Amino acid sequence: MRPSGRNARVRRQSLIPESFKQDLLNRVDIVEVIERHIRLKKSGANYVACCPFHTEKTPSFTVSSPKQFYHCFGCGANGNAISFVMEYQGLGYVEALRDLAESVGMKLPEFEPRGTNKSDAGADLYEILQRAAGYYREQLKGAPEAIDYLKRRGLTGKIAARFGIGYAPAGWQNLEAVFPDYQDKALRECGLVIDGEGGRRYDRFRDRIMFPILNQRGSVIGFGGRVLGDGEPKYLNSPETPLFDKGRELYGLSQARAAIRQGGRAIVVEGYMDVVALSQHGIEYAVATLGTATSAVHVQKLFRQTDEIVFCFDGDAAGRRAAWHALEVSLPVLEDHKAVKFLLLPPEHDPDSFVRERGSEAFERMLGETQPLSDFLLEQLMSRVDMRTAEGRSRLIHEAKPLLKRIAAPALQLQMVKRLAEFSSTTQEEAARLTDIRIVAGRGFPQRPAAARAASESRGRHQPQRGLYRQLLRGLFVRPALVLEVPLEELNVSLPEAQVLSELAAICRAESGLHVDSVIERLSVPEHVEIMKRVRASLLESKLEDENIEIEFQGAITTLRAQRRNPRLHELEQKAETQGLSDQEYDEYRGLIADDAALKQSRSTQPSVL
Ligand code: UTP
Ligand code: MN
Repeated sequence: MRPSGRNARVRRQSLIPESFKQDLLNRVDIVEVIERHIRLKKSGANYVACCPFHTEKTPSFTVSSPKQFYHCFGCGANGNAISFVMEYQGLGYVEALRDLAESVGMKLPEFEPRGTNKSDAGADLYEILQRAAGYYREQLKGAPEAIDYLKRRGLTGKIAARFGIGYAPAGWQNLEAVFPDYQDKALRECGLVIDGEGGRRYDRFRDRIMFPILNQRGSVIGFGGRVLGDGEPKYLNSPETPLFDKGRELYGLSQARAAIRQGGRAIVVEGYMDVVALSQHGIEYAVATLGTATSAVHVQKLFRQTDEIVFCFDGDAAGRRAAWHALEVSLPVLEDHKAVKFLLLPPEHDPDSFVRERGSEAFERMLGETQPLSDFLLEQLMSRVDMRTAEGRSRLIHEAKPLLKRIAAPALQLQMVKRLAEFSSTTQEEAARLTDIRIVAGRGFPQRPAAARAASESRGRHQPQRGLYRQLLRGLFVRPALVLEVPLEELNVSLPEAQVLSELAAICRAESGLHVDSVIERLSVPEHVEIMKRVRASLLESKLEDENIEIEFQGAITTLRAQRRNPRLHELEQKAETQGLSDQEYDEYRGLIADDAALKQSRSTQPSVL
């Protein structure tokens, strides 16, 4: 939902036809999908269970079969069958679709552009890579120098097996023995061979220790190969292929998942050997980026598994740069109940050498002293300016501004503004103003006490209107296209619900026939997504039938129109927003609305909306 992650998702998603997703959602039953993993208990129209996404003793996880939706009233986790599979099994969007599709006998349509028109080419690539991995593993058994190398690096056979480590022998066309059709273009597509000049084909990996890279379902999607000695390049990696996207994948995640969930945190390190060595020392919740910088997708992927991510990089300048980059990509995907932390090792160490030299206890002790993102951010910025001077402190605010603005977690953002204020010798209000951050929900910041009082009174008057807009929003869960019936010009655009309605209308105008989940996914403002989630949660609680929700929707539209028909009502409405109403006017306003509703009821059987 947050900016960077969202783009990545939309890019991916747009490759799968919307109609497929809708068919799929129509075919799967969310109750059945969830029951594959946890026991549900019937409770009225819904099912309940203890929430699988947070620890609790009394069940607040609710699944609605008619609405094909789950919601946890404890932690707020919610979504449809697809999001459940993504969250619970830790799968990516496409993988979740594939999983669900398979469970109801559907096949994921071909969505990656590729040269071949064989529709199951994707499956072929997986199979080829798996076969290659088996071959490399076998070869390791007969390669004493490679075994020796791994032993020297402190690895046991058990750990080598856990990570499927193998050996690609020296020689140019060894894979010919594994794949009789060595000219098959699928071999190149999955990165195992290279077509040289003159069309001569040869194996990409030769005389290297092979680390298979798995996706979260445990399928091989690529390899990293290390030279045994000092050759160049030290690591050779699979190129990006239809199956392997370095910006999304993390080495070791498939093996680490259980430990991450159990331990409640994930460590991100830089190298293959760091992951493997930590595992050798019993620290099994580490993953590595694949020779690329950390991406927002990486962070999001890990946040689906756990609430705490520790970036553990080398203590040298490069490690510090990598940590700073990880910080920057994390800001837009942070949430208030999640934490990003940093552990910079002593300059001479990487996690592998540290844990081998000092042991796992020392490593875990250090993990207890990690620096939270908030500290790391300010500390790094302060180290770049002269805090003793006014200029330095101003510069600090200037540098902090773009970073703080990107923090998606509102409570953390507020905390950071406070800290920044302390360090820069400003008040909280000044720091907020200078960084252009609103730290109070609602309009108009900063608010003086009197203004605040007036605002809260006029908020009361806003309530009937917001209630009306929420009834409109509820209708969209029955049929998103209903939004096109809303007279947008009648809405008070200063209210967030109205802004959501107009964004939803734009989305539905641009693309028809969207499922409500797809409509929500296309919302660009996180706050709008939140509003829709709350509306959905309220629907789940209300136990209203679709039919009544739609009647309610039509009623709300009638009221909206009536508000315009009655100019006095409209006038009061405007005044409520601009200067607030006196108590007398407020009573009048309520009376007019009530009259209107009564009138409508006498004319039709539609229920009152207020
Ligand atoms: P490092 O150079 O820090 O190596 O690269 P390392 O992990 O400590 O490797 P060992 O301990 O010497 O075996 C960190 C990561 O950067 C990528 C790899 O993913 C590596 O694990 N890398 C490094 C490459 O892709 N290619 C290279 O040539 C070097
Ligand atoms: Mn190393």
